[in-house]
Amino acid sequence: MRVLITDSYDQMGLEAAKIVAGQIYLKPNSVLGLATGSTPLSMYERLVAVHRTVGLDFSEVTTFNLDEYIGMGPDNPQSYHYFMQKHFFKHINIKPENVHIPNGMAQDVIAEGERYEQLIAAKGGIDLQVLGIGQNAHIGFNEPDVKFAATTHKVELDEETILANSRFFNNVDEVPRYAISMGIKTIMMAERVILLANGRNKARAVYKAVCGDVTPEAPASILQLHRDVVVILDKEAAELLPANVVSI
Ligand code: PGA
Repeated sequence: MRVLITDSYDQMGLEAAKIVAGQIYLKPNSVLGLATGSTPLSMYERLVAVHRTVGLDFSEVTTFNLDEYIGMGPDNPQSYHYFMQKHFFKHINIKPENVHIPNGMAQDVIAEGERYEQLIAAKGGIDLQVLGIGQNAHIGFNEPDVKFAATTHKVELDEETILANSRFFNNVDEVPRYAISMGIKTIMMAERVILLANGRNKARAVYKAVCGDVTPEAPASILQLHRDVVVILDKEAAELLPANVVSI
């Protein structure tokens, strides 16, 4: 696990965008795993800028998003389908058929999870997975639990997650209670992983991910067992890390 500490949220996004852009330059038909939320926005802005200025080409890229709320269709402005179009996909030259996000409207969530896993496998697996982290150290919507959930599955969201995500809704009662999320195995099977975090409210979760015991009670801690992870932080998110894990 490599840890990069940057000066700001913007710098964090720039470092992440460099890795994603490098991945695409080296392998134009890369399969990317993508995340939503406030954290990766600066990375998406940078990637859009690289596409516009020097023509970073997404035409052969395939993407798989981590998760979606159950009960939300793509036209719902609170859905992760909508988020991804608004902040990333509509600004780049990705082919719509190469974009994949779990279907929050699926009648049969188990079948949807199986379909999603099969699709990832059929594309040869994920080359580079981008992750944020929840204040409770969740990755995707894999909430703290007594065991790691393996593959794409239905999740009951934690109260802490519902509260954190209520900032995007009119009130907390509007936040969906359930989501469909890639599992821990799906994430761990990615060739490379970058985990992004900014802000003091993520410092405890980052500490658990990087230095804590590997436990399903802190799902991001499993990343310590992955062979190619870069954790990219701003100073505030890094403030509980001991000096010896701080590489720059
Ligand atoms: P955030 O969410 O980027 O909006 O903080 C991260 C997460 O919950 O994984």
